[in-house]
Amino acid sequence: MSKLSLDRILQSQGFGTRKYCRALIEDGDVAVNGEIVDNYKASIETEDLVLTVFDEEWRYRPQVYIALHKPANFECSRKPSHHPGVLTLLPEQFTWREVQPVGRLDHDTTGLLLMSDDGPFIHAQSSPKRHVPKVYQATTAEPVTEALVAQLLEGVQLHDEPAPLRAVSCIRRGEHQLEIVLEQGKYHQVKRMLAAAGNHCSALHRSQIGGLTLDALGIKEGGWCFLEPEHLALLAPA
Ligand code: URA
Repeated sequence: MSKLSLDRILQSQGFGTRKYCRALIEDGDVAVNGEIVDNYKASIETEDLVLTVFDEEWRYRPQVYIALHKPANFECSRKPSHHPGVLTLLPEQFTWREVQPVGRLDHDTTGLLLMSDDGPFIHAQSSPKRHVPKVYQATTAEPVTEALVAQLLEGVQLHDEPAPLRAVSCIRRGEHQLEIVLEQGKYHQVKRMLAAAGNHCSALHRSQIGGLTLDALGIKEGGWCFLEPEHLALLAPA
């Protein structure tokens, strides 16, 4: 049980500055569990709270955990330079809440990207000590051979790494298709591993992190959804 003033609640959920949130409330644009409340000082229980702002319902969430199906030509960096940032694919509230990607996908990589405003969660998920498998579908320029698969499983040496990096699993899915599972999250890792093994990655898609799959979430390219505790449980290391 935790009570907060309505203006504070609205601000914490990313609806804008305190001043703007107060104006929204005073204008009658905010309902609390279905009832309009126009006093911004009203003390409101946050548990199971549903806000309606401009006729749209938002469940109160102390922190947000999001899965985005990232399309190509969006950047994960905080200050995107050549393409729009992934935050432009989400409602504006998430920018106000300082939601950030958990790790990065290259601008031309598609697929599952986690995002959150929970700093310790982002930190824990990005830690190299966490061995959460990530599943990628790579399209290769040269045919996928048995030798390539064997090399990726055995380990390839990248320039700036002290030891060879190897795939946890690697399966040929077609003449130019490879499914590769990695536990580390090094910079451009799939592309660099394929290059080090004498091939070239021409397209890359991430379909799964831990036990969480894009298919099960059912989000289309460019779409997103909230992750609930049962989804987060699937991100635990194997
Ligand atoms: N490996 C890459 O090379 N790129 C990505 O975006 C993710 C993994």
